[in-house]
Amino acid sequence: MRRVAVLTSGGDAPGMNAAIRAVARTGIDRHWTIVGVRRGYAGLMSGDFVPLGARDVGGIIHQPGTFLRSARAPEFKTEEGRERALFHLNREKIDGLVVIGGNGSQTGAAALSNLGVPVVGIASTIDNDLYGSDISIGVDTALNIGLEAIDRLRATASSHERAFLIELMGRDCGYLALIAAIAGGAEAVVIPEVAADPDSVVRELQDAHRRGKSHGLVVVAEGAEYNADAIARHVIGHQDRIGFELRVTKLGHVQRGGIPSVADRLLATRLAAGAVEQLARGETGTLVGLRAGEVAATPLAEVANRKKELDPALLEFARILAR
Ligand code: F6P
Repeated sequence: MRRVAVLTSGGDAPGMNAAIRAVARTGIDRHWTIVGVRRGYAGLMSGDFVPLGARDVGGIIHQPGTFLRSARAPEFKTEEGRERALFHLNREKIDGLVVIGGNGSQTGAAALSNLGVPVVGIASTIDNDLYGSDISIGVDTALNIGLEAIDRLRATASSHERAFLIELMGRDCGYLALIAAIAGGAEAVVIPEVAADPDSVVRELQDAHRRGKSHGLVVVAEGAEYNADAIARHVIGHQDRIGFELRVTKLGHVQRGGIPSVADRLLATRLAAGAVEQLARGETGTLVGLRAGEVAATPLAEVANRKKELDPALLEFARILAR
């Protein structure tokens, strides 16, 4: 019988609990013993393991966050930290590890794989910047939260004929901001992937006002060269040119704490089942993600330290549809 450990690492994402549940139950279905590691790599380095039976993962599919908890663990980047993790994996007789997380977490998984640990990653980050998966767990829910905020802000913006800068998460990737801007009908979007100075936002808003719009919604990715605060400082000095009064709303971690959508629960379940299948076949050192609608594995060595590029066609959409 195999002993498989599962952990969640890095920023939590809605759907992580659904993934833990599916790893546990599909593993148990194969008569494996499943154990959870608390607080991600920090728990791996301190030996914080908990048994995960079928009942232990009951009642969590709908819960945001991760009941195993998560952490950012800089010590895991050191040789000593990884040796400590290996020690505990050996002591617990773990012969398979599932890492649910985003870029940094999968880079850690690749390092463990290089040390001989049979590890499989599951693509999970709201940022959707992970190479090897068209979409990752948490993105759909985080997008819908961003979209709901835009819809609500449009109502009040139109009533008062105001402009809003709406800052969304995404670290150094503009995916969440771009898709929410397209789906929310924003007048402009500012993302790290496209150079934009604060005065271009002034011009966009001025133009929207001249075209007779009753509001000006600008979605700003937190990782853009000029974030919402920097743009606001500039725009406020040019308020008379724009025609709209300006307000700023930053979503921050609100965007990460949503009840996982149907799409995220299903994606989490499919990817987790795929990860267990990879372990069963002995095809480890891989990241399980979704590619062209299918569950697919990519070598962790290709995923580590790499960022997925944004589709340029989406950028063009945002520009055309803002008319
Ligand atoms: O990677 C997910 C993410 O939510 C990013 O969008 C954001 O920049 C970052 O994590 C915030 O990290 P923390 O929760 O450690 O402040």
